[in-house]
Amino acid sequence: MEILKIENLKKTYGEGKTKVEALKNINLNAERGQMIVIIGPSGCGKSTLLNLISGIDKATDGDIIVEGGNISELDENSLALYRRRQLGIIYQFFNLIPNLSVENNIKLPILMDNKEVETEYFEELVTSLGIKDKLKAFLDKLSGGGSNREWL
Ligand SMILES: Nc1ncnc2c1ncn2[C@@H]1O[C@H](COP(=O)(O)OP(=O)(O)OP(=O)(O)O)[C@@H](O)[C@H]1O
Ligand SMILES: [Mg+2]
Repeated sequence: MEILKIENLKKTYGEGKTKVEALKNINLNAERGQMIVIIGPSGCGKSTLLNLISGIDKATDGDIIVEGGNISELDENSLALYRRRQLGIIYQFFNLIPNLSVENNIKLPILMDNKEVETEYFEELVTSLGIKDKLKAFLDKLSGGGSNREWL
């Protein structure tokens, strides 16, 4: 089943002399369960593409269709729900929330939706990640020097 379809996607930053055409007519199809790696030199538009797919930035033109719905047509509220419910993004620098525990960082999108966390799935997840003993810890307590980057 097709989960993502990108059609003639364009993203232009700036205008006039500072205009940058970061993406010119990108087309991409992805099936459910498919793994896709985007590689290319610095400045070729990888982050731009991911920012558009994840609804963080708006395309200049073209369509991004996720599970049959065109995210280009969503307003800010619907985009926030799309990011919360349909996406998982792991940034290079994680962007975790330091004053929440490890457990609540993981559960945050579900809690924001006032939904029940599936205990069995949560257990399976933290067991597979080997972080069961870290769940109650706050991120700044996980490693020295105030950096949280070593443990994940
Ligand atoms: N906010 C912005 N304003 C203007 N130009 C931008 C902006 N963001 C990115 N660009 C330009 O768009 C082009 C694509 O940038 P992008 O960050 O998507 O590349 P990248 O492939 O992720 O690079 P890297 O491998 O260095 O992370 C580059 O020419 C960049 O300078
Ligand atoms: Mg980048």
